[in-house]
Amino acid sequence: MELLKVENLTKSFGGLLAIHKLSFIVKEGEILGLIGPNGAGKTTLFNLISGALKPDKGRIFFGDAKISGLRPHKICKMGISRTFQDVKVFPNMTVVENIALAATFARERIPTNEAQRLATDLLRFCGLIEVKNMLARDLSLVNQKRLEVARALATQPKLILLDEMMAGLNPTETLDAMRLVKAIRDRGCTVFIVEHVLRAIMNLCDRVMVLHYGEKIAEGTPEEVCSNPKVIEVYLGEKYAQN
Ligand SMILES: Nc1ncnc2c1ncn2[C@@H]1O[C@H](COP(=O)(O)OP(=O)(O)O)[C@@H](O)[C@H]1O
Ligand SMILES: [Mg+2]
Repeated sequence: MELLKVENLTKSFGGLLAIHKLSFIVKEGEILGLIGPNGAGKTTLFNLISGALKPDKGRIFFGDAKISGLRPHKICKMGISRTFQDVKVFPNMTVVENIALAATFARERIPTNEAQRLATDLLRFCGLIEVKNMLARDLSLVNQKRLEVARALATQPKLILLDEMMAGLNPTETLDAMRLVKAIRDRGCTVFIVEHVLRAIMNLCDRVMVLHYGEKIAEGTPEEVCSNPKVIEVYLGEKYAQN
């Protein structure tokens, strides 16, 4: 069943076409990967879905509801939340306060004692129990990334958009992050993930979509996409050369 449907989406910044006539769906319960070179439009797409940006053309549906053009807090309440590539935790609040604040934007209003239980559950789920009373600004990068995820989950999303949550993590932290993504899906939340860590994309994703200059150039299983000559030419070739 389709959870999100994007139709003919277009967004430009001045003369630059960041997203061009893009159409695709996200299926309920899947982990969909999004890859492509820097500047391909991946973060812009997440900004369009979450309502941070408005499309120039095209429409986005979440279930039966048209969400393109709605404000971000409305979209969040409907069940879509996201993390930020450039981490945006609230620096002067503690970890647990960051999570509790997000819970007030939850899909369904929950009583205070339940919000506390949810926060504790998320601290444990995301590996943040030991740092729960630290100010967010004092956290290590990996814990800031975990907090971004915990905060997004506190809104009880049906769909979570994860933007390069593994960038800058060491191999052990990356493995932990991969386990976390799987566990998020196992909780019943659909995952749409932008990631340059290919091992994660290959291991986690049911399907992968490839963007290049705002256009979809390939879509399929991780194996199909990674053996696609066009994808190797514009993205993987460059990545393999780096390694
Ligand atoms: N707010 C903005 N204003 C102007 N240009 C932008 C803005 N956001 C993104 N861009 C441009 O749009 C293109 C796509 O960027 P982005 O979506 O961040 O790519 P990716 O996440 O795939 O690296 C880039 O050329 C980028 O410079
Ligand atoms: Mg980006």
